[in-house]
Amino acid sequence: MNEQTGFQGMTALVTGASSGIGAETAYGLGSRGAFVLIHYHHHQDGADEVLQRIRDASGDGLLLQADLNRMEGVHGLIEQVRKTGRAIDILVNNAGSLIKRTRFLEFTEDLWNQVLTLNLTSAVFITQAVLPQMVERKKGFVVNISSVAARFGGGLGALAYSTAKGALSTFTKALAREFAPYGIRTNAVSPGTIDTNYHRNFSKPEALEACAAATPMGRIGKPEEIADVVVFLCSEGARFIQGQVVEVNGGFLMV
Ligand SMILES: NC(=O)c1ccc[n+]([C@@H]2O[C@H](COP(=O)([O-])OP(=O)(O)OC[C@H]3O[C@@H](n4cnc5c(N)ncnc54)[C@H](OP(=O)(O)O)[C@@H]3O)[C@@H](O)[C@H]2O)c1
Repeated sequence: MNEQTGFQGMTALVTGASSGIGAETAYGLGSRGAFVLIHYHHHQDGADEVLQRIRDASGDGLLLQADLNRMEGVHGLIEQVRKTGRAIDILVNNAGSLIKRTRFLEFTEDLWNQVLTLNLTSAVFITQAVLPQMVERKKGFVVNISSVAARFGGGLGALAYSTAKGALSTFTKALAREFAPYGIRTNAVSPGTIDTNYHRNFSKPEALEACAAATPMGRIGKPEEIADVVVFLCSEGARFIQGQVVEVNGGFLMV
C-alpha cells in the first residue's frame, strides 16, 4: 500500500490514541492519508505528540477528550464527533484498561460497571453512533481491540476486564454478521502481551519476563505490531476478512 494515499479522503476515529497501541494505530492510519480523530482521556501530551507525528507525515487530525468509564463521557464523545461534521470511515475501538487489579470478592458494582463500560459498552454505543453513515455510504471499517485475556480468562484480578473483552470479541462477530451486507467490515485484533503503559501500570517486570519466556518468539510485542494488523484489516488486502478475531501474540497462544 502507498504510504501517503492508502486512506486518502477517509476519516478515522481511534479511541485511546494517546499512547501504546492506539497511538501507533492513529499514526499508521494518519500517515497513510486518513484524517484522524485522536481520542484521549488523561494524556493530552501523548495525543498532541501523535498529531504532530501525523502532521510530520503530511497528514492531519483533531484531538477529542472523554472519560469512557462512564456513559456521560461516552455520550460526550459521540457529540464531539457529531460536531466535527465528519462521517467516520474507520472506527478503532481501542480505549481500554483493567482500571484496578481486583479479586472477584472485592468487586463493587461501581467498579464492575466502569470496567464493562470502558472495555465493552463504550465501544458498542460509539459503533452504534457512527454506523448509520457507513450504511448510507455502503462502506466502513470497524476494528475492536480485544485481548488474549478473552481466550484464557486473564490474569488474577483481571476478571471484569477479560469478561468485557470476551464480550467485545462476540460483539465483533454479531456486528459483522448484521452489517456485512451493507459493505461494512468488522473485525477484532486480540493482542498478546504488548509493551505499553498498560503493563507499566498493572504488571510486575517478573511477570513480563515470564510471559516472554513462554512465548515461542521469545519476547513480548511492540504496539506498532498490533497497529500494523489494524491497518491491514482496513486495507484492500483484507477485503474478504469479516468477523474475525485476529490473535497477535508471537505464538503465546495458538487457537
Ligand atoms: N498492552 C497489552 O498487553 C494489551 C493486551 C491485550 C489487549 N490490550 C488492549 O489494547 C488497548 C490499548 O491498550 P495499551 O496496551 O495500548 O495501553 P495504554 O498505552 O495504557 O493505552 C490505553 C489508552 O486507553 C485510554 N483510556 C484508558 N482509560 C480510559 C478512560 N477511562 N476513558 C477513555 N480512555 C481511556 C488511555 O487514555 P489516556 O492515556 O489519555 O488516559 C490510552 O489512550 C486496550 O483496549 C487494552 O485492553 C493491551
